[in-house]
This record gives sequence, structure tokens and C-alpha cells, in this order.
Amino acid sequence: MNKQDTGDSLAVIDRRDFLMAAAGAAAAFAMSGFAGNTRAAAPHALPPLPYAENGLEPIITAKTMGFHYGKHHKGYVDNLNKLAAETEYVGLALEKIIADTAGRAEKAAIFNNAAQIWNHTFYWQSLKPNGGGEPPAALKQKIEASFGNMDGCKKELAAAALSQFGSGWAWLVLDGDKLKVVKTGNADTPLTTALKPLLTIDVWEHAYYLDYQNRRADYVNGVLDKLINWEFALRNLG
Ligand SMILES: [Fe+2]
Repeated sequence: MNKQDTGDSLAVIDRRDFLMAAAGAAAAFAMSGFAGNTRAAAPHALPPLPYAENGLEPIITAKTMGFHYGKHHKGYVDNLNKLAAETEYVGLALEKIIADTAGRAEKAAIFNNAAQIWNHTFYWQSLKPNGGGEPPAALKQKIEASFGNMDGCKKELAAAALSQFGSGWAWLVLDGDKLKVVKTGNADTPLTTALKPLLTIDVWEHAYYLDYQNRRADYVNGVLDKLINWEFALRNLG
């Protein structure tokens, strides 16, 4: 139910710039302690959730988590392993597969599944039980310099999450020395740009429909107020 128009998501960027950005992002995550799939391994494995499936209740129920993590995220892993079998992508790290397949129509299926594995692992880390609230001082200072105040940052994140047409993602990113909010459609990810992802909110319907039906705003506001993991964003800031 989620393969829809990309709307005004991030523009496709020059392939050379993308490869450089992806390599940089992979190195950054390795340094920041992000538990993504950065090592070459075949087959790819579903990374463990950083909390119990009911750990984000009542904002995100265990039922949603069971489908979102146990079916959708796992499905991307299983699909990639099938698609990559007996291709040049066997044994390659996720970031390298994403870098090589981005923007190539003939590789779209591999790109979509690889990017969705990465995006979802990043999303689980972007949330935590008893999240939200005040960010650590170093991040708060950066947010205030970029958005004026915390409320400005949260409003921009909510606006991006709500205005993404169809399936996609809202992201807090580092752009040079400033923070900024962007959105991407479907499986697209800031890894394919020079932007450094700090945290993300999944706005595919599978992320909220069981709990909120069409009320995407209630899901997004609940995430921002009660679940968002500012410490994770600070670690990614480096
Ligand atoms: Fe999702």
C-alpha cells in the first residue's frame, strides 16, 4: 500500500557526489557507534531492535512494531538477500550497495530494499522509550542556532513529516555546519546526498496506520514529544 508518488522529495544528485557522500556517511556512522550494517556480510541480517517490541507504547503499539519490524523490515532483508544472490552485490556492505544502485533504474529493486533496510535500522535508533523532551546541551545549542528554538525545529520536522506526499521519511540532517530538515520519498535516503542524517521519522502508512489510521499528525506529534532520541542525533553529529 505504500509505493506512491515521491512528491517533492530530495532531488536526485550527481552520481559522483553521491558516492563521495555515501562513503563519508558510512565512515561517520562507524565512528559514531551507529549499529547499522556497515560490515560486508552475506546474507544480510535483520539488526536487533534496541528495545522490546512494546517498549514504545502507548505511542507505537507492539502490534505495529510486530508488523513494522517483524514483517516489513525483515521483508526488506529477505528481499535483498534474494535479489543480491549471484550478483556482484553478494558480500557487499549495505552502504556500498546503496551507493552503487542509487539512481539506476535497472537496479531499483536492489536499491529500494537495501535503502529500506538502512533507513529502518536508523529509524529504530531515532526513537527510544521515554524519549522526547530536552536534547543534550550540545545539540540544543546547535538546534537553536539553526532553527531559533526547539519549537522551531520540532515544527519543521512535523511539517516535513506531514507534507510528505505518500510514503517516505522526514529527517534532521547536518548540512555543512547547520542543521536542517528534509524529506525523502519511498526508499530515498540522505545517504545519497552530501547531507549527514542525524535522525528520522518513518511516515510510510505501515508505521502508523494500525494505531492512528489516517491521523498521521497524531503519530508524528507523539513521536516528537515522547519518543524522539535526541542523544542518537547528537552522537551522529560527531
Ligand atoms: Fe517503515
